[in-house]
Amino acid sequence: MFDSLPEAVSIYEVSPRDGLQNESAQVATHAKVRLIEALVDAGLKRVEVTSFVSPKWVPQMADADQVCQMIERREGVTYSALVPNARGLERAMAADLDEVAVFISASETHNRKNVNKTVAQTLAAFEKVIGPASQQGLRVRGYVSTVWGCPYEGDVDPEAALTIARELLDRGCYQVSLGDTIGVGTPLQTRRILERFLADVPRDQIALHLHDTRGTALANVLVGLEMGIRDFDASVGGLGGCPYAPGAAGNLATEDLVYTLQGMGIETGVDMPKVWQAGQVAEAIVGRELPGKVHRAGVRSLAS
Ligand code: HMG
Ligand code: MG
Repeated sequence: MFDSLPEAVSIYEVSPRDGLQNESAQVATHAKVRLIEALVDAGLKRVEVTSFVSPKWVPQMADADQVCQMIERREGVTYSALVPNARGLERAMAADLDEVAVFISASETHNRKNVNKTVAQTLAAFEKVIGPASQQGLRVRGYVSTVWGCPYEGDVDPEAALTIARELLDRGCYQVSLGDTIGVGTPLQTRRILERFLADVPRDQIALHLHDTRGTALANVLVGLEMGIRDFDASVGGLGGCPYAPGAAGNLATEDLVYTLQGMGIETGVDMPKVWQAGQVAEAIVGRELPGKVHRAGVRSLAS
């Protein structure tokens, strides 16, 4: 293992969206803004700040428009948001974002529970999102969820996930982020999935979005790294889950990813003590202990 490590890796931070969307207590808008600014201050260059979904479906994201209005933008940072349909894109454009992310599942049941549509209907709805967004100068990212397993259907055929991913790329997404939505993936499974994807899709068009429900996310990152993947999603403190995927925990914690990559000599652009501080902000605003390992252990504690 590790014959060819990259010099640098790009981290796509999802805690303000994937993290906070699952919190039952309403988080104040100014607290969300504080978290986003702490993440940017730590050196994260790509941040998914919110989602423009139906407030009836995800009340926690109802203040998406205000969040975008309030954050102080920093040069060189890509501010992104999740968008399910034309209405979402309209809101994202009014909010002056750099990028939007569409999302769809590789399994029919999760897709229906998440967006009330079949996979085919969801792809049809994206006709009013991907093309129009690109025409307005926004980059579009695509998520394919439940690639490693579905909370309703169990095993998922990687071929089905690949067909959807190809469709998203053909329609204009610059990258697809493959989701282990409920954190069931293990390393050899990750290798099999990536072997299939990399036979058809250039590696820089693939990102990994790994929830750490069973503690295997980092092991799967290492498989991805070894296979040439350079883009990883992460959530500070390990905050998060998906409201329509029972049992989903947070994404791989950003601090755990940065700590591991830095230890391997791989550049992330992220300042370790500052991202740890951002994790403290996240914990304070949700008012409960977060699960990230580095978050809990500290950046480095030496016995005296
Ligand atoms: P629907 O009920 O079938 O659609 O929802 P609708 O068009 O009838 O809309 C219902 C109401 O919402 C209407 O309002 C619409 O106007 C409004 P009403 O007429 O009843 O007053 N509405 C909107 N309002 C604001 N912004 C919008 C919008 N769209 C409709 N964009 C819909 C369909 C897709 C809207 C709904 O199912 C939805 O919002 N789902 C989002 C679910 C979600 O956010 N899930 C979590 C994110 S996905 C995830 O976490 C996985 C990921 O992290 C990757 C991984 O881990 O694998 C990305
Ligand atoms: Mg997710």
